[in-house]
Amino acid sequence: MKAYRAAILRFADDRSAVYEEDGLLVVGPDARGQQVVRAVGAYASLAPDYAGVLVEHLPGRLIAPGFVDLHIHYPQTDVIGSPAPGLLPWLDNYTFPHESRFADHAYAAGVATVFLDELSRNGVTTALAFATSHPQSVDAFMELAQARGLRMTAGKVLQDSHSPDGVRDQTEQSLVDTEALIRKWHNRDRLGYAITPRFAPSCSQAQLRGAGELAARYPDVWIQSHVAENKDEIRWARELFPQSRSYLAIYDDFGLMRERSVYAHCIHFDDEDRALMRATGAAAAVSPTSNLFLGSGFFDYEGAQRVGFKFGLASDVGGGTSFSPFHTMLAAYYVGREGQTKPGVSLSPQDLWWQHTAGAAHALGLEGVVGNLQRGCEADFVILNPGAMPLLSRKVAHAASLDELLFSYIVLGDDRVVERTMIAAR
Ligand code: GUN
Ligand code: ZN
Repeated sequence: MKAYRAAILRFADDRSAVYEEDGLLVVGPDARGQQVVRAVGAYASLAPDYAGVLVEHLPGRLIAPGFVDLHIHYPQTDVIGSPAPGLLPWLDNYTFPHESRFADHAYAAGVATVFLDELSRNGVTTALAFATSHPQSVDAFMELAQARGLRMTAGKVLQDSHSPDGVRDQTEQSLVDTEALIRKWHNRDRLGYAITPRFAPSCSQAQLRGAGELAARYPDVWIQSHVAENKDEIRWARELFPQSRSYLAIYDDFGLMRERSVYAHCIHFDDEDRALMRATGAAAAVSPTSNLFLGSGFFDYEGAQRVGFKFGLASDVGGGTSFSPFHTMLAAYYVGREGQTKPGVSLSPQDLWWQHTAGAAHALGLEGVVGNLQRGCEADFVILNPGAMPLLSRKVAHAASLDELLFSYIVLGDDRVVERTMIAAR
């Protein structure tokens, strides 16, 4: 066992933040040998019980749960910052040509290495990631994530329609490949597999039907896709699937909405869509930097909270502009205030932080596993040092409440603040 003494942030079951000014985090193996949180609380009350354990004292630091990114494309690491009038030309002009290179395992492994380094530098310890349509792109990612001991979930993109040569797959083969990848990677160490139809317009009915059948056969794998991001995209999806009530309902009609299904964006919803999210247990991956960059629109926090479906935060790199959870939380704050048909929701810093840690874990069905520092959670955490940024250092010294403290990090913070990212206590 080993212990860390510093300020500690975690979340209670009711989503409220629990903050220990002078805390102790004790980590060590559980009965299965997995590194977990063995104890957490005030230093003064816990220290006597762990007198024999080595304590690393980290004055001025904040220990917090590793961040969870609910939606990200590892092959788009080098697509960040590609300007386009909107989603569809962005896909055609930058994303598809770029993703075609991931047929090459060595190329994919090179990008996956940079991607995993970036996640760690930014304090992200778990992600739900898209690969590309090439099975090799999944293998490259999983091999590297496994070697690093990460809890990661990813999947081969399904796109047999309206997609150019180089990324388009074949219906039958895509489903055979998906099943083989599930068997190879799902639940191997800390890895998970996600069935990954890119979005309804890129999939034939047969491919969506096959994806739904696989989802039924493997009930604990994840499902991930995109929905209701962009008005042109929505019009196109409705034309292609006129029998479905809405764009979102296409996925439900093919058996692709349930617990452990995560839909990116979910911007242009009506209340029936929101009710469908709630009824099925599906979750939204809110991706504010992407939505602002591509001009897609604004996630309706008021509607989501009123109807009550699950959501959490995501970078959506490379539509998104940053790997940094601080940048994503700040963008979510702007979106919560602005761009709504009704008065904006003012998201508290505690809400925002929850949405990128315990809330995102909840959306994945991984509450109590990652995204928090309660007893028994896996020992993935960040050590933040505000002293790495002069302005943040001043601001934190003036913070008179937990909200002020967390807001300082959200508004001013970036990867410089992340002094160490701990994966399974290492
Ligand atoms: N819709 C279909 N594919 C994509 C993608 O790669 N990024 C985003 N943001 N939306 C999509
Ligand atoms: Zn995306």
